[in-house]
Amino acid sequence: NIKPDIKWLGTPIHELKRMPECGRQLPPLKDIPGQHTVMIRTDLLHKSKVPVAYPTYFKDVWDNVHVKMPCSSSSLFPVKDEPQDGAKTPKVGRYTMFFRICFHFLFQNAILKYNASYAQKWDFTALKLYCTKVSNPDAAEHLFGSLLPDMVQLALRASELCTKPIPLLKRGMNHSITMSQEQVACLLANAFFCTFPRRSSRKTEYRNYPDINFVRLFDGSSSSKIEKLKTLMCYFKSVTEQKPTGLVTFTRKSLQRPPDWKSSQTPLTKLHITCEGTIEDDGYGMLQVDFANQFVGGGVTGSGLVQEEIRFLINPELIVSRLFTEALDHNECLVITGTQQYSKYTGYAQTYQWGGKHQDTTPSDGWQRKCTEIVAIDALQFRSFLEQFSPERINRELNKAYCGFARPEEPSQNLSAVATGNWGCGVFGGDARLKALLQMLASAEAARDVAYFTFGDSKLMKDVHNMHAFLTQNNIRVGEVYDLLGQYYSTVCRSCLSRCPDVSLYSFIYQQVSSSLVPDQSDSHSARQ
Ligand code: AR6
Repeated sequence: NIKPDIKWLGTPIHELKRMPECGRQLPPLKDIPGQHTVMIRTDLLHKSKVPVAYPTYFKDVWDNVHVKMPCSSSSLFPVKDEPQDGAKTPKVGRYTMFFRICFHFLFQNAILKYNASYAQKWDFTALKLYCTKVSNPDAAEHLFGSLLPDMVQLALRASELCTKPIPLLKRGMNHSITMSQEQVACLLANAFFCTFPRRSSRKTEYRNYPDINFVRLFDGSSSSKIEKLKTLMCYFKSVTEQKPTGLVTFTRKSLQRPPDWKSSQTPLTKLHITCEGTIEDDGYGMLQVDFANQFVGGGVTGSGLVQEEIRFLINPELIVSRLFTEALDHNECLVITGTQQYSKYTGYAQTYQWGGKHQDTTPSDGWQRKCTEIVAIDALQFRSFLEQFSPERINRELNKAYCGFARPEEPSQNLSAVATGNWGCGVFGGDARLKALLQMLASAEAARDVAYFTFGDSKLMKDVHNMHAFLTQNNIRVGEVYDLLGQYYSTVCRSCLSRCPDVSLYSFIYQQVSSSLVPDQSDSHSARQ
């Protein structure tokens, strides 16, 4: 029983490191073949100026290692109502078609025309509702007279803005892509109008990639779809009214050599734990965890609306990662640096509502990126409670978190804290007490402190704080905790016949550690010598 007025425990949050204060000066930004694709002229990079695309002219590639662009001359589709001179149905460029269609009032027909094979299947109820719910005539005029036409124009600038072929970030690759926020906006406008070729059916060559075309966002009549559309239109309004000037980097990382958890002598790092606040608001400048799906962004362009989807909606530049990021493997993560928050929100899941425009005042780094670093790590989904305690699952989750948190190339004094919470413990059904402990081990091994947001759960705040305090006071290292997890599995979980074990993980750890202490010290939980 904790006093209701206690909102946080552990290290005060101001003692944890944040970017940009803790960071070191970045080396000059440059394109490194095979490692880092930079899509802009770095020599012309200037604060508050819109970055210039590189190369000057569109390089048209159509292969299986780059994004297939809607503006490519190979992006063709059959048009039945075109004049025919032979038996074959003639093909027209996707953009030519897009141009030809009178868009303003025939939006729905427009999308269906150039995606003719989906005409029977696609449903635009949510989009229609969104348009009609804009009951205020001025807002409707703005939508049809200004915003949607501006978005069309932005989409059509792809060959001018995104001139360099965008590499696909495939399984096992360690590669970064840096592009301007304007390039991202152009790609997202294309996603909105569903122009990306080969991306409207999961049966195609992109089946191991997330959906990018927004088609599923427009169907159904749920109010949450409308709220999602409001959030995204706020983004498009902002970027069409004023061009953003920053850059965003997407880095796919795979863990080459996992730590030797069993023999690790690393002590735990500091923990700030709170039942108030959120990762995005209170974890500014920290490494912010996205409770991801292996298909990054999860259901953001469909019906999902929990932590990851909300983050992708309020920081929509994250969505473009879906264009080129193949499903994450067990030892992989995606780090996204520099996205901007455009919207506020209230509620969560079914109660989610767009909360208006957000002014993002986060400072930028030497590469003109907002100091907002988000790491997408996908937890395992558990159907039974016990399976998560098995050594293979524990190893997988530890390595996944470590892959997300570790920056072996950075000196530890330059590493910000990890801002996280109940990773894998909502939709994915994990146990928050176990996951908190695993994240503490991974952060310790990665030499980072932790800010943990329990999302309103004050009991969890107290339990995790007490466990962390107990382990640190008794000087228990990462390897020992790992060993205790193994013992818990073999002595409690493996023989357990019911759904939940009789002894909880934390009680087991308290018992085991206390009984290994010399008797006169065990009662007081005092530090071991
Ligand atoms: N800050 C801190 N904690 C939060 C926040 C926030 N902003 N939002 C939610 N939580 P969940 P998962 C807490 O279910 O289980 C998506 O569809 C809250 O306690 O999103 O890893 C992905 O695409 C919540 O219950 O993560 C995946 O498919 C808990 O975090 C799947 O869900 C877990 O949030 C991942 O599910």
